[in-house]
Order: sequence, then structure tokens, then C-alpha cells
Amino acid sequence: MDTIILGIESSCDDTSAAVIKNGILLSSVIASQAVHEAYGGVVPELASRAHQQNIVPVVHEALKRAGVQKEQLSAVAFTRGPGLMGSLLVGVSFAKGLARSLDIPMIEVNHLQGHVLAHFIKESEDDHNQPNYPFLCLLVSGGNSQIIRVDAYNKMEVLGQTIDDAAGEAIDKCSKVMGLGYPGGPIIDRLARQGNPLAYTFSKPHIPGLDYSFSGLKTSFLYSLRDWLKDDPDFIEHHKEDLAASLEKTIVDILMDKLRKAVKATGIKEVAVAGGVSANNGLRNAFHEHADKYGWKIHIPKFGYTTDNAAMIAITGLYKYKDKDFCSIDKPAYSRVTIK
Ligand code: KG4
Repeated sequence: MDTIILGIESSCDDTSAAVIKNGILLSSVIASQAVHEAYGGVVPELASRAHQQNIVPVVHEALKRAGVQKEQLSAVAFTRGPGLMGSLLVGVSFAKGLARSLDIPMIEVNHLQGHVLAHFIKESEDDHNQPNYPFLCLLVSGGNSQIIRVDAYNKMEVLGQTIDDAAGEAIDKCSKVMGLGYPGGPIIDRLARQGNPLAYTFSKPHIPGLDYSFSGLKTSFLYSLRDWLKDDPDFIEHHKEDLAASLEKTIVDILMDKLRKAVKATGIKEVAVAGGVSANNGLRNAFHEHADKYGWKIHIPKFGYTTDNAAMIAITGLYKYKDKDFCSIDKPAYSRVTIK
């Protein structure tokens, strides 16, 4: 009998649905919300309203593209948290209602676990690039910067994480300060390709162990910019490529320094990267350099699976389905929690 999982993701500003049949991804639909661009960041209330509008057409489209009737579904997997409460509630309530109406199991998924397991999404039978356990995963997004040891799909340990801002948050804030728009990640990435990464230096944190910190870098960037703007009011326009390249290099260096430490401490040389910031070309290049230099076996997700998507929720749901790890209807959404 076929196992067909519908995944639903609505933790932030992307409404997404995906269908996985017998381990192979059949469809993945993402409706992003441009409404936040004008505000320079995600506005929670607007995000919830957009999810309300998008959820039915997005799920409908995912089923249609997969050629699957809802009555054929084996289970509905959904992001229970962490994320914005109003956004989560839309996906969680929809998933519960659908699963209950079809009388099939509902499966709760931790969004961060989903990001890590995005590496196990298979688009075809002969896709065999999945990591082997144990591996390390650098999870870098707008809300998280963590180094995770992954021993099994359901056994993950956070070895280090940011004590203040996430890497993506720092990039977005610096982009905003430069007046470049939101989200800053893709803009900084594009500009950095044309700039000199050694043009400027910004302060790096001195945090013990495997934890990260990005708030000092943000302040250092802001203060440096203020000084330069005093001498040249058009400083940003004249130097935006070099500023982006230097900022990106500083962030990538900070991320990779701790990751090298983690590899040394654990002896695990199979290393993956996940989350929105893993779309960054500078970070991807650094992974390839480390593979060449230190013999790491690296795993970099396809661009479509770096940012929030329901395919990663569906694949996590599939593993939990096989273990009959279902959830009851009384489980509420949660806004904060890390990988346990
Ligand atoms: O994982 P994600 O889609 O959402 C969560 O935070 O859960 O990550 C979004 C973050 C944003 O900070 C965005 O600026 C960043 O990922 N991002 C990038 C790139 N694309 C997205 N950062 C650097 N370079 C990129 N190409």
C-alpha cells in the first residue's frame, strides 16, 4: 500500500504544502508574502492574514500537481513550532481539521528538525545523496544559528547556538541599515559577488565553546557606517559591493570557525548546512573549500529546500509515520523551542 504524506508549513511568512509518496517528493508549492517588503521585516498580523488566504489554494495546488486525491492521503504532517504564533495557528488548525475530516493520523513536526531533514528529500528513486549518521548540521536562518549533532532522524543534540541574534537576522539588519531592502540575505549575496571581501573589517565575537554571537557585529557595522557617512554622505552607494562582501566574509568566517571546532571536538567529518542562510554563495563556497582542505564530506541543500518549505515537513512526517509517532488533536502550536 502507498504511503502518501501531505506536509504543511506556515511558521513564518511562507505558506507551503508538499506531497511525498513512498519517499519520493511529488509536489512542493510555496506562496511567499511580498507584503512584508514595504515594512523591512515580517509583520506577524499581516503574515497570519496572508496564510489564511493562501492555505486552501496552496494545499489544493500541491495535491493537484502530485496527482493525488485527498482521500488517498495516509497522514497530514504540519509544523507545530517554533515560529510566529498567528502564522502557526493557520497551518496547525488547517492540518488538524483536514486530518480529522479524513480520519487519518496527524503528525506534528518541529520546524528546525525539518530544516535538518531537508537533506533527506528525494526527488527521484536514484537520488542517493543523503547524509549518513552521525553528521553535523549548521542550521542558519533568520531565527537560528546552531551547530547540531544528528545521530538519527529523531536524535539531535544542539552543540552550540547563538546567544543573541541569528546570522540571518544580522544580515537582514545590516542590509536595512544600508537601505537595501528586505530580506537582506539575497541582496547582500548578490552585491557581495562584485565586491572585495577584504575591503573592511568588522569586529568578531570571542565566545567560548561552540556558541555564536552576532549582535556585536551588527553594532560594529552600524558604528563604522556612521563614521564613514560623516566623511562621505554617499558612502553606501559608492561602496555597497565592498561593504556587502566584507560583511558576508565576516559572518561566514564566524560560522566556519566554530564549525571547524565542532568537527575537531566530535571527530565527525560529515557536515551539512541548512536553513535560509545556506542559500548564501559565500557560505556554500566556504563549505566546498573546507571539503577540499580538511576532507569533509559536505551536504548542501538545493536552493528550493534552504528556505521554509513543506517538503522538509513532509519528509520528517514520513519518518514519524513509519514509527507511528502521531499526535493528538489537543496539541497546541508552540512559538519557542529548540531541537531537543
Ligand atoms: O530559513 P528561513 O527561510 O526562515 C527562517 O528564519 O526560519 O531563513 C530566512 C533567512 C533571512 O534572514 C534571509 O535574509 C536569509 O535567510 N537568506 C540569505 C540568503 N537567502 C536567504 N542569507 C544570505 N544569503 C542568501 N542568499
